[in-house]
Amino acid sequence: MKLPYSFDDARRAIRITDPRLPQPWINYLSNGDLHAFVSQAGGGLAWWKSPLKNRISRYRQYNLPIDSPGFYTYIREADGTTWSPTWRPVETPLDDWCAEHQPGLTRFIARRGALEATLELFIAPGTNSLIWDISVANHSDAAIKVDVFGYVEFCLLDWKQDTDWACYVKHNLQVEFDTAAQCVAYVYRHFHFNPHLADCPLVTFAASAPVASWSCDRDAFVGNYRDERNPVAVERNACDNQPCLGGDPAAALQVPLTVPAGSAARFQFFLSTEEHAIIAWPRALEAARTTLAHLRTPGTVDQLKASLSAWWANHLDVFQAILPDQDIARQVNTWSPVQSLHTARYSRSISQHAAGVRTLGFRDTCQDMLALAYRRPAQATEMFRYLVSQQYEDGHTPHQCNPVEKLPAESRIHIDNPLWVAMLAHAIISETGDLSLLDEQIPWLNAADNLSHIGSASVWTHLLRITDFIEANLGTHHLPLIHHGDWNDSIGKFAKKGKGESLFAAQQYVFVLGHLAALARARSDEPTAARLDALREKQTAAILACGWDGAWWRRAFDDDGQPVGTASAEFGKIWLNTQSWSVLANVGTPEQNQRAMDSVAELLDTNHCGIMKLTPSFKSFPEVQDPYSGYSPGCGENGAIFCHANTWAIIAEALLGRPDKAWHYYRQLVPHLALQKVGLERYKAEPYAYVSNIIGPENPKYGWANVTQVSGTAAWMDLAVTQYLLGIRPELDGLRVAPCLPSDWPGFTVTRLFRGCTLHIEVRRSNDEPPGLSLDGKALPSPVIPASALADRPSASALLILPKSDVPY
Ligand code: GLC
Repeated sequence: MKLPYSFDDARRAIRITDPRLPQPWINYLSNGDLHAFVSQAGGGLAWWKSPLKNRISRYRQYNLPIDSPGFYTYIREADGTTWSPTWRPVETPLDDWCAEHQPGLTRFIARRGALEATLELFIAPGTNSLIWDISVANHSDAAIKVDVFGYVEFCLLDWKQDTDWACYVKHNLQVEFDTAAQCVAYVYRHFHFNPHLADCPLVTFAASAPVASWSCDRDAFVGNYRDERNPVAVERNACDNQPCLGGDPAAALQVPLTVPAGSAARFQFFLSTEEHAIIAWPRALEAARTTLAHLRTPGTVDQLKASLSAWWANHLDVFQAILPDQDIARQVNTWSPVQSLHTARYSRSISQHAAGVRTLGFRDTCQDMLALAYRRPAQATEMFRYLVSQQYEDGHTPHQCNPVEKLPAESRIHIDNPLWVAMLAHAIISETGDLSLLDEQIPWLNAADNLSHIGSASVWTHLLRITDFIEANLGTHHLPLIHHGDWNDSIGKFAKKGKGESLFAAQQYVFVLGHLAALARARSDEPTAARLDALREKQTAAILACGWDGAWWRRAFDDDGQPVGTASAEFGKIWLNTQSWSVLANVGTPEQNQRAMDSVAELLDTNHCGIMKLTPSFKSFPEVQDPYSGYSPGCGENGAIFCHANTWAIIAEALLGRPDKAWHYYRQLVPHLALQKVGLERYKAEPYAYVSNIIGPENPKYGWANVTQVSGTAAWMDLAVTQYLLGIRPELDGLRVAPCLPSDWPGFTVTRLFRGCTLHIEVRRSNDEPPGLSLDGKALPSPVIPASALADRPSASALLILPKSDVPY
């Protein structure tokens, strides 16, 4: 199959050679405050801090034409012919074109006749500007004059106001050309119903080169019954130069360029923000003038670009591997940690599919932070503190919370939510070794308003309170009550009367009790550790008493005490998650768990593009009157290949020591490989980012990869491959090196920064050397490099020798 893209791994780039993909393939550009995403065709949107409250530009997710609008550049030649380096929106045929996504930067290179345009979009650390770095080269032997227009359509910042109330509130704004700063300056000031808007930013659009004309109004720029493809201002070669004091705000700038023969002309557009447009006017405008003066200083843009690549190198260098399989190495070294950083920033909130209203899912963010814990422990710790501050005194945690928007948390109980925060505590402390985190005082969330705080307690008290909450919420089988759901949102269907119980949450609880007992022992608190062990034994016994179905683990018990996920059921006989988590929680005999995972292989693995979440899919209305869910068969939670849940199957097989199965499950979801297997037109999504789910075999759209980019799959795939397949896993007292090596791999090497020490780890199969792990030539008694051996050392070398056989170490 000829694919319209290729990877350039040395440059950590994907190069896309045809913009007409089945759906937008996006890249996130961000410095942590100012954010944007951009597609291979220049579609995209920008926001400052919150896509809900401070959305800077518009993007119509669900409408035609898809993937628009965006960050649009028009190159108008002297004869009026106009084209875009992003191909869209003008769509003029080009002689050569490509788009490249790299971590934090997207580049377009387009050629038409003698002209070649390069456009790079990025946001650098510390400077709140989306920089459009444009260079136009002239390959002819005569000078060429062109006019370059940059255009962006603004949003009314508060996105719900923009979608619901624009007819009124769009007259609460001001877009003007500031002659001192030579920029379009946009202030939205509808703060009447929303006090947060007093914080709203000043948005500016500027160029580094002199501008010939400007526009502040979408409709004036585009013209009657036209669209971004053929704006009247570009056709006429002049913008209207009028402010917009009501209407649909936008910014356009015209930059005339003369490109000398055989040479190139370079300049930038800057889409920037400054804080407090309203409460600190005109200081905000002053700040904008200073920022723009700095951005326009020669050398600044190149410095910013260099600081962006240094930032990413720092993030990625924490774990780098040399592997015998390049498709896997590319995921491990670049695209998995890139995506898991994005999900750490955006949770499930915003992408080309996700509208940007969802803020932070509590458990989602806990899981996203698991992958940040080993690369950026300080950042994960900061988010951990916030998440703990969202716990109620009874031990439960909300379902959604809003650190930036400062809206009340969504208090609905999904039984699993608090469990994940304990896993995060364990992951962070395993990485840092710093138990003092457990002694920090953190307030409780006030149940009266789900927003303010009451009292406070140590982190350790918060974590133990989770066990109190679960113990107070056990059902008739002594398993945790589901309430509104567990990890699986739709499972709440079986618990509408409040009695349904979750076997999956029970396994997670057992897993978490193990983590908490280990933390208690690390604190030398043996009585608490013993109490937690006893709870673990009690919950394990409850699972064993009712959970085994004969060839797999059941999934839940409904309100009437009937098992869900049982061989006699018509639909949903077997569910994936309880098979994998039984291994993770180490509940049941090895034979039971191997049998359960064999059932997964027989009944749930498509052997094509992943493992289904359950089978057979449930039927829904109108055929079935009280359906499990409205999802069509094979979609979403109803029999799709739920990629997030696949990650735990990979981990389970790795823990069972079955490398071929574990790597088979991993490989079949590597996006680039899944896309090739399924076919581009059917798979549709990015070959460099995981999706939430892939439509399952019971649906005619089998193979369509859905909800890309913002998925829990990102973090867990990163953990599955680095910590369980390659097996380099932080633990409270050191770094475990326990790979689950594919039978045909001779070995691999990894560079891993751990507790301040850069470890060079080599894993080698050999029958000529004694098996086992050594550090700087000295044999270690177990496969764990003790943290104490690394103290104050900038670097060290570890070697793991594995026998040449399929038996894992
Ligand atoms: C979505 C939700 C996540 C949930 C999962 C399964 O990914 O974001 O919170 O656990 O679906 O229901």
